[in-house]
Amino acid sequence: MSIPNLEDLLADGVSGRSVLVRSDLNVPLDDGDITDPGRISASVPTLKALSDAGAKVVVTAHLGRPEGKPDPKLSLAPVAAALAGQLDRDVPLAGDVVGPDAQACVQRLSDGDVLLLENIRFDPRETSKDDDERLALARQLAELVGAQGAFVSDGFGVVHRKQASVYDVATLLPHYAGKLVAAEVAVLEQLTSSTRQPYAVVLGGSKVSDKLGVIEQLATHADSIVIGGGMCFTFLAAFGLSVGKSLLQTEMIDTCRRLLDTYADVLRLPVDIVVADEFGADSPPEIVAADAIPEGKVGLDIGPGSVTRFTALLSNAETIFWNGPMGVFEFPAFAAGTKGVAEAIAAATGKGAFSVVGGGDSAAAVRALGLPEDGFSHISTGGGASLEYLEGKELPGLEVLSR
Ligand code: 3PG
Repeated sequence: MSIPNLEDLLADGVSGRSVLVRSDLNVPLDDGDITDPGRISASVPTLKALSDAGAKVVVTAHLGRPEGKPDPKLSLAPVAAALAGQLDRDVPLAGDVVGPDAQACVQRLSDGDVLLLENIRFDPRETSKDDDERLALARQLAELVGAQGAFVSDGFGVVHRKQASVYDVATLLPHYAGKLVAAEVAVLEQLTSSTRQPYAVVLGGSKVSDKLGVIEQLATHADSIVIGGGMCFTFLAAFGLSVGKSLLQTEMIDTCRRLLDTYADVLRLPVDIVVADEFGADSPPEIVAADAIPEGKVGLDIGPGSVTRFTALLSNAETIFWNGPMGVFEFPAFAAGTKGVAEAIAAATGKGAFSVVGGGDSAAAVRALGLPEDGFSHISTGGGASLEYLEGKELPGLEVLSR
C-alpha cells in the first residue's frame, strides 16, 4: 500500500500553513505524573520537523478513556508540559477540543508554533459509532487548519481505531503518514513479509482472548510461540492441570485445548511458576512446577526453569516478536520472568536477530526494568495496533491514508 509521508508534505512546503497532527500521547500517569514518556519522545521527530519547517502545528491526541466528557484528571496539561520540555519551546494547551478557545489559540499561532488541543476524547463524537457524528467533529478539526491545511497521522497506537481524529479527518484533508507511523509500518511489514527463520514469538499479558487472533495467525508462520504471563494459566488448565487461584479465562479453555492440539509443535508453555498466597508485592514468592500449583496459591510469574528453556529457544532465533509481560513485573519479587526473557531477546538481538517489542506493557516493562532500549531492534508504541496488524486485519487509520 502506498502512503504519502511527511517528506512529501515537507517537499510541497509547509511554511505558513497550518498542519493538524494526530499523535498518540496516551502515556501512563500516576497521580498526575507521567511514569513513562516513551510515546511523547516517539512523537517529537514529526512535530519538530514540521515546526522547524515553519508550519503552524496543531496537535490532537487522547489520554485514557474519559467516555466523551471532560475529566480534569485526564487533561493533557502534563503532556503539554512534557512536550514543551522535549521540543524546547512553548506548547500551549487549548482549553477545549475544537471550541472557542481552540479556535482562538489557532488564530494566535505564528510559523513554527506548536499548539496542543485538549483531550480529543472529551468530545463524545470522537469515538462515536455514528459516521455522521464522527464526521461532524472531523470537519471542525479540519476547519481549524483551514483551506491550505494538511493532516499528518502520527499516532501509530490508535491507527486500529476508526475514530474522528484518526480516520474521518483524513477523508477531509490532504493526508500524510508521520515519521512514527511510517517507521512502525516499515518494521511490521518486515515482520510479515521477509521474516528470517527461526521466528520466535513471545506472548504474555493477562488475557488469552486478546492474543487469540495473533496466535492463530502466527502459528503457521512462527517456529515457536512462547506463552507466559497471566494467559498461560488458561493453557495449563486446558492440559487438565490445576492452577490454584491464578488468573483463568474458563470460557477460553476449550479454545486453548484446540490450539494446543493443532499447534503442539509450535506452542511452548512454562515448566515452572512463581506463586504466592496473594496478589501483592509483599506476598512471599515460591517456585513450583507448572503441574504442581497448590490450591489456594496464585501464579504471578514464570519460574527460572521456564526462563532457561525460553532463553535457549530465543538464542537461536533470527526474528523475534514480543508482546506482553511474563509476570507481574511491577512487583520486584515477580519481575524475574519478564526480565529474563527480555534479556534473552536483547542477547539474541546482539547476535544479529531482528527483534520487535510490541508496545503497551512490554515496552513499559523494558523501561521500568532498566533494560537498554537499544537492546531491541524496534520498540513499538502501539500494543493493540501492532497485534491487529500482525493478525492481518485492515487498520482503518492506515487504510484511509492510502486513498
Ligand atoms: C493505547 O494505549 O494502546 C492507544 O493509545 C489506544 O488507546 P485505546 O486502547 O484507549 O484506544
